[in-house]
Amino acid sequence: MSSAPGQIPPAADALLAKAQALLSNAVSERDAAFRYPVLATADDEGGANARILILRDFDAESWRVTLHTDRRSAKMSEIAAGNTASLVFYDHIAALQVRMKGTGETEKEKSALRNVWENLPDGTKPNYRSAKPPGALLESADGNPVSLGQTDGFENFAIIRFIPESVDILQLSPQGNSRYRFSPRTRLGTWLIP
Ligand SMILES: Cc1cc2nc3c(=O)[nH]c(=O)nc-3n(C[C@H](O)[C@H](O)[C@H](O)COP(=O)(O)O)c2cc1C
Repeated sequence: MSSAPGQIPPAADALLAKAQALLSNAVSERDAAFRYPVLATADDEGGANARILILRDFDAESWRVTLHTDRRSAKMSEIAAGNTASLVFYDHIAALQVRMKGTGETEKEKSALRNVWENLPDGTKPNYRSAKPPGALLESADGNPVSLGQTDGFENFAIIRFIPESVDILQLSPQGNSRYRFSPRTRLGTWLIP
């Protein structure tokens, strides 16, 4: 087994295919573990900021991941700063961890945003209607209710595309763990010490 980056051997190919299948399935499967990745960004003091987001789409060819959020949230400015971000998935049943490192870009086309917005479940849209930004301080003693803005929330709706420069896959196994890192851009990969 070579440790230098190069052509993808069959065992690594199978690992990549397994991760791709789990990611593709999680787009529509509400109970899939890979549906709830952790997105970590660098905050404006150079610290880490991590939170769970729902996986909305996955492109198996480029490994790009689509996420939805409120454009006023901290993650948006942290992604716009252009620092490397990380997206981590773990499926306990599959015993598989996928760590992506890369950058994010946000959808600028109003018509594309509108198209996705129109197809969101009605229960999701109110999440974008808070008068104050996510993370703003609340004055009420019980943390509720969030006062709603006058609009339907569309102006706060944002789509993030996460573009991985590397995909690091760890397969846990009683026979021995294995780890493979792959670049979707160069299509090269290498086995790593787990
Ligand atoms: C199960 C679960 C799913 C979530 N899905 C999303 C999501 O799809 N988009 C989002 O912006 N926040 C989502 N959140 C909330 C975020 O974890 C986070 O609290 C919020 O986006 C504010 O993050 P920020 O202030 O760091 O930007 C989810 C939280 C949980 C627990």
